[in-house]
Parts: sequence; structure tokens; C-alpha cells
Amino acid sequence: MVPLQSFLILLLFLTHQSSSQVTLSISPQTLSKSGDSVRVQWSTIDLPSHLDWLGFYSPHDSSHDNFIGYIFLSSSPTWQSGSGNLSFPLVNLRSDYDFRIFRWNETDPIRLDQDRHRLPGTSHLLSRSERLGFERGRGPEQIHLAYTERWDEMRVMFVTEDGEESFVK
Ligand SMILES: *[C@@H]1O[C@H](CO)[C@@H](O)[C@H](O)[C@H]1NC(C)=O
Ligand SMILES: *[C@@H]1O[C@H](CO)[C@@H](O)[C@H](O)[C@H]1NC(C)=O
Repeated sequence: MVPLQSFLILLLFLTHQSSSQVTLSISPQTLSKSGDSVRVQWSTIDLPSHLDWLGFYSPHDSSHDNFIGYIFLSSSPTWQSGSGNLSFPLVNLRSDYDFRIFRWNETDPIRLDQDRHRLPGTSHLLSRSERLGFERGRGPEQIHLAYTERWDEMRVMFVTEDGEESFVK
């Protein structure tokens, strides 16, 4: 039988472990249209570093290296406390986003983008957010007009979410 005392110590240890998890939350979780802003909020980062960074991903299940953008957490004035938030607009790419915080230091292998800027490393994930989506069914987008071979005809192309019958007036 496990003595009660060691059970309590184990319990304290587990509680301590979970409280050192970095929390990462987003609000809102659904944006109504392209260009609306999301606020990303984090807390309980131990020993915050000015190289800790936030990557954004779309589709949400992209691999760590395929971030479509990133921002250093030190852009938030409160980053040294281990908590902070950043807000930025997102383009509707017709798939969900998610956000991930990584710890990077300059001993990570060097990778460069096409413009030979250094890209931050993704070997140490600290936290990952929930998914963010865009509201559906807000009418056609990406409308494209074109003439056809007939003088009295015009082609209208557009993208809708629902695939139901649509009319052009
Ligand atoms: C976001 O961070 C700013 C400081 O940059 C702070 O004043 C504000 O209270 C924070 N907002 C939330 C919702 O935490
Ligand atoms: C840098 O990162 C590597 C791998 O994540 C780690 O082993 C090393 O201790 C870090 N160095 C510093 C100075 O934090």
C-alpha cells in the first residue's frame, strides 16, 4: 500500500506540472469576415525570452514549419511577465487557422526564407491554440466577370459556401 504522505507529494507534483503549462487562447473563435481581427492571449510562460514567438497556420493542421506568418511575443509590452496578448487581422483563406507558441534560441539550425531572412526554429513547441474559423454562408466571394463569345452574354463566376442554387440578378 502506498503511504498517504507520498501520495500527497505525488499529487502536489502533478498539480505543479500542470500549472506550468503555457496557456494560449484566442478570441473570438469565429470571425465574421475576412480582415477582422483576432486577439491571441497567453500566460504562464516560464523565463520568457525575447525570441519566443507565435506562428499562425492555415489550414490548422499544417506542419510546424509551414506557418504563414509569425510575430515575436516581445511585440506585446507585457511579454516579460510571461503573459500578454496581441491582436491582428486575418484573411479568410477558406480553412481554419490555429496558433502555436515556440521557444527558439539562436543555436537552432539556421533556416532562411526566399529573401534570406532568418526563420525562427520550430523544434520546441510551448503551446497550441484552439481552431479559429470564419462564419459561413455570407454570400458569394471572389466574384469574377468575363465576356463570352456572345455579345449579349456575360459569365459570372463566384464561390459560395453552401453549394445551393444561386441566382444572378
Ligand atoms: C492586452 O494587452 C494590453 C497591453 O498591451 C493590455 O493593456 C490589455 O489589458 C490586454 N487585454 C487583455 C484582454 O488582456
Ligand atoms: C537552446 O535550445 C536548445 C534546444 O532546444 C537547448 O538544448 C539549449 O539549452 C538552448 N540554449 C539556451 C542558451 O537556452
